Amino acid sequence: MTTRELRLLPDPVLRAKAKRVRNFDAALQRLIDDMVETMRHESGVGLAGNQAGVLQRVAVIQVPEDPEARVLVNPEIIERQGEREVDEGCLSIPGYRGTIKRSVTVRVKALDRQGKPFRLQANGLLAQALEHETDHLNGILYIDHLESHDKLHKVEPEPEESQGAGVG
Ligand code: NI
Repeated sequence: MTTRELRLLPDPVLRAKAKRVRNFDAALQRLIDDMVETMRHESGVGLAGNQAGVLQRVAVIQVPEDPEARVLVNPEIIERQGEREVDEGCLSIPGYRGTIKRSVTVRVKALDRQGKPFRLQANGLLAQALEHETDHLNGILYIDHLESHDKLHKVEPEPEESQGAGVG
């Protein structure tokens, strides 16, 4: 496993739409392992393919209560319920956070790293991360959800332990 270079705004790869994964080959397994390593190295709770410079629909997520990283290939949000305000950041937009609206509950369908389908229902930070990473795969960033510019604020670099430092 190795870390990959984290792509930062305004890298155009962050604005591109990632392609569906069709081959569950060794290169994909390597990409997933590298993405998990990169996410941990950056102290994020998630990472999407675009952020590793790879336009494939792959996301990894690990919220504090997850014993291991979740892998989602070709994830799709199939249902959203409720609305809540969250303070969100992104590893690709260091030094800023913003207040945006996210769903309370989401249901997602995806494939695992071997190509096997699964479904997941989530609340809280996991739901937020699922929306954030799925957005990334569509070239969307959390700043696109800001209702106004004053909802975005600068922050000092956060201590490593702090939860949700970047969402992903
Ligand atoms: Ni992000």
